[in-house]
This record gives sequence, structure tokens and C-alpha cells, in this order.
Amino acid sequence: MSTEARPFLKWAGGKGQLLSQLSAHLPARIQHEPFTYVEPFVGGGAMLFFMLQRFDNVKKVVINDVNEDLVLAYRTVKDDVEALVSRLAAMETAYRAVAEQEGRSELFYEVRERYNRRQGDGVERAAQLIFLNRTCFNGLYRVNRHGLFNVPFGRYANPTICHAELLRADSCLLQQAAVEIRHGDYADTLQCADGLTFVYLDPPYRPLDATSSFTAYAKGDFNDDDQRALAAFCHRLSAEGCLWMESNADCSAKNPEDIFFEELYRDYRIDRVSAARFINANPEKRGKLTELIIKNYE
Ligand SMILES: C[S@@+](CC[C@H](N)C(=O)[O-])C[C@H]1O[C@@H](n2cnc3c(N)ncnc32)[C@H](O)[C@@H]1O
Repeated sequence: MSTEARPFLKWAGGKGQLLSQLSAHLPARIQHEPFTYVEPFVGGGAMLFFMLQRFDNVKKVVINDVNEDLVLAYRTVKDDVEALVSRLAAMETAYRAVAEQEGRSELFYEVRERYNRRQGDGVERAAQLIFLNRTCFNGLYRVNRHGLFNVPFGRYANPTICHAELLRADSCLLQQAAVEIRHGDYADTLQCADGLTFVYLDPPYRPLDATSSFTAYAKGDFNDDDQRALAAFCHRLSAEGCLWMESNADCSAKNPEDIFFEELYRDYRIDRVSAARFINANPEKRGKLTELIIKNYE
């Protein structure tokens, strides 16, 4: 049986668990008309891989992220997957050859150091990112305010560092759909609209309360002004005739007086989906939450 394409990185805010609920909110028109798919905050790409497999009527696909290393990893998976697989396979062999966790930890910090010094060619840097994602604590990507990856070593018995079949399945799909992989600010993707266009926006979420920690995907914050600017971008997408759907945090469920999104998106339809959050390190905060789905269509 062939391997199903899905995210090759574990990413904070990954939508893998929400796909069936999100797919119920997709616009009816894309079911039977050729369309352009744009994902301005692609992250791990759970929705991207779902869309590529679910719809054979996608005529153009554009993904974008501000995280340069993530974009490099997508480009490498798409264009140079065999070189990436050999590099990762070698890293996995070296890692597993060290039996003691102490020795593995040393290896981990060596790779982290090289990654943060931006050493190596493109294939090596993509391999370093995947290696770190597979062997770090909780398998997440996080950088400090200097942009340095700072997740510590994670103790796993035998992590799969080189998932060759998955990487090949992802590569094949990215190539088949000739996915355009862009690096930059989400706002620059406005120019990618082409005919019937569906845009799925999964920005860094607004914190539910002042104490919930900010998830640093890349240097810089995504504050309330950025959320407002994103809403203005959504208005522009509507004016261009695009269909769009945005995921964001359900702040009013936590605090009924916090109607930030209800006000910001009062011209649009807001629904809720239930989301299991596994990101929080504190198990007490991992409970069931709802998330917003905001759309400019019925
Ligand atoms: C919530 S994550 C996306 C999760 C993803 N859809 C998934 O399923 O894994 C948000 C992404 O937005 C990116 N990002 C943050 N600010 C951005 C900006 N101004 N323009 C483009 N991407 C940005 C981050 O690097 C991060 O990958």
C-alpha cells in the first residue's frame, strides 16, 4: 500500500486532528470547478496535503510561510527528495548507533549548534531541521527572540528520523501539483489569486488570555495589530472575489467579554469547531477547546 502524504514536520498548531471538521466548511464551489488554492501561513501543511489528495480539480497551488528554514525544507522535499533521504538515513544510522541517551543528547546538541550557525548546504539544513523536529523534546519547532532554535533534547527510544516513504509521497504530490513555494509575508500572496481562488488562513493564534504563552514560530510577535491587519487582508481577498476561510482562537469562549474576533469579523460567518490541543506542556491546560472558523461564504 502506498504511503499517504501528510506533514513531514510536527508543527505547533498543526491541523491534522481538525481536518474532518475543517473539510465540512470548505466552499461548495470548489467541489466541481477548477480552482486555485493558496495557503499563506502553511506551517506543517496538514491542510495542504489534505487538499492535494482530496481535489483533483486544483489547477494552481501556492504555499507561503515567513519561516525561511521551513520554506527551504518544502523546496528540498519537492525538488531534491533522494538527496534528503540519504542525508537523513545517514543521520538516523549515526544516532541509533549510539546506545546511551547521553551520547545521543551530545549528537543532538551538535546538530542544533550547526543548524543555529546556519552551516551546511540546503539539503543538509533541511535534514537538520527534520532531524531536530524528530529528536527534540515534544517534537516541536520553537525559536528564541534571536531566532535560534532552542528546544532541548527529547528522550525517545527509537525515533524515526528518516521516514523515506512519507518524504517521497509528499515530494510526489508537491511535484504533481507543481506547488509554488514562497517565502515571505502572507500579504504578498494576494497577487497569487487566479480565477476561482480559495485561501485557507491559519495564522499564529491570538492568545486566549494574557498568561498563555506565545508560540514563537519565527522571530517577532503576532500581536493584536497584526490580527487587525490580517482582517484587512481578508477584506481585500473578498474584494478580489476570493473565497477564504480562517482558523483562529476562540477568545470569547474563554472570556465572554473578549469579543475581539466577533467585532473584527462582524461582516463574516463565524463557526466553531472543537479542537484537542496537545501543545501545552502543562497537562491541565491540554483540555478540550473550541476554535473559530471564519469564512466569507455560506
Ligand atoms: C499556526 S501555524 C500554521 C499551522 C499549519 N497550518 C499546520 O497545519 O501545521 C502559523 C504559521 O504562520 C507563519 N507565520 C507567522 N507570521 C507570518 C507572516 N507574517 N507571514 C507568513 N507566515 C507567517 C509561522 O511561521 C507558522 O508556520
